[in-house]
Amino acid sequence: MSRPLLESAKLGAIELKNRIVMAPMTRSRAGDGDAPTALNAEYYAQRASAGLIITEGTQPSANGKGYARTPGIYSEAQVQGWAAVVDAVHAAGGSMVMQLMHCGRIASHYNKDTDAETVAPSAIQAKGQMYTDAKGMVDFDVPRALATGEIAGVIDEYRQATANALRAGFAGVELHCTSGYLPAQFLSTGTNRRDDRYGGSVANRIRFVVETLEAMGAVDGMDRVGMRICPGNPFNDLFDEDPEETFATLLDAVNDHGLAYLHVIRMQKGSVDNIALAREHFDGPLILNDGYDFAEANDAVASGVAAAISFARPFIGNPDLVERFASGAELAGFDPKTLYTPGPAGYTDYPRAESADG
Ligand SMILES: Cc1cc2nc3c(=O)[nH]c(=O)nc-3n(C[C@H](O)[C@H](O)[C@H](O)COP(=O)(O)O)c2cc1C
Repeated sequence: MSRPLLESAKLGAIELKNRIVMAPMTRSRAGDGDAPTALNAEYYAQRASAGLIITEGTQPSANGKGYARTPGIYSEAQVQGWAAVVDAVHAAGGSMVMQLMHCGRIASHYNKDTDAETVAPSAIQAKGQMYTDAKGMVDFDVPRALATGEIAGVIDEYRQATANALRAGFAGVELHCTSGYLPAQFLSTGTNRRDDRYGGSVANRIRFVVETLEAMGAVDGMDRVGMRICPGNPFNDLFDEDPEETFATLLDAVNDHGLAYLHVIRMQKGSVDNIALAREHFDGPLILNDGYDFAEANDAVASGVAAAISFARPFIGNPDLVERFASGAELAGFDPKTLYTPGPAGYTDYPRAESADG
């Protein structure tokens, strides 16, 4: 079997020693003030043989927080916490990109600072509930609709977060543009009922995302900015009348911007062929994701469709996933009960394969 996954690559200005990317995973273990800790540094450093690690979704502002114990990148303590994480990963030979995740309406005020707000394109509450440490499962907040004049400020939060992430030592940043969070809420007809220049027509609904990418790219070049998409993803009560048209229009609008990469969740059960859509409307490198194993991932790179493949769940129980793929060692599973619980259990205590220990 040819193994192009083990070869190096360059995505824009971001260098990968192999094409095995650790996909973003929220693990809800940030410390005081939503700052990363030594435990987080240990977790990521254990996985530094990945060609690139994409962090868990990280809020660009206090308002952007939705879930319990997720990290931020807007306070100095958070920047310093992340700098220590990046240093540990670099020392172990790895490279990192930060995923910026503003949850918008997918939030509970019980998970937020007391002076933070839940904001969204329109004041439409998501159906469903989320976990909070204070009250257990609660309904999502009813969001406050952003005024037109406030939107530039939200976009600027992403710019500042990008500057902070690059200062902390990250090789780049990724805009989380799916899974029902703020950018997806702007894109989709079910969550965006605005009648200003950020709502209504598809040209208006994509404006927030295009302007956000441009703000992120203005910090140190678009070749350090990636975007994650999954057209047709219904997660978190997201609905769009025509996701294919929405994402085709978005990709056409940013195709000539020189993004480092597009990170595509293929979601095989969805209504849209996300890989075909991405290939048709985006000329830059693709990172593909969702349910790949080593053989299929190698095929996707060998065929020229993908530059790299990202893996999420396999990295939870296999800190040495790259070495296990290379040696053909068996993969370990993981305990779903400790995905989002504080502390090292189910986080930093998954062992390396014996053969990989050397
Ligand atoms: C525990 C967990 C947390 C996740 N958190 C995020 C996240 O913060 N941001 C994101 O874009 N995707 C997140 N995802 C989705 C994964 O990145 C990935 O798309 C999904 O697990 C499918 O890839 P896989 O088959 O390799 O696991 C998460 C998945 C898991 C299992």
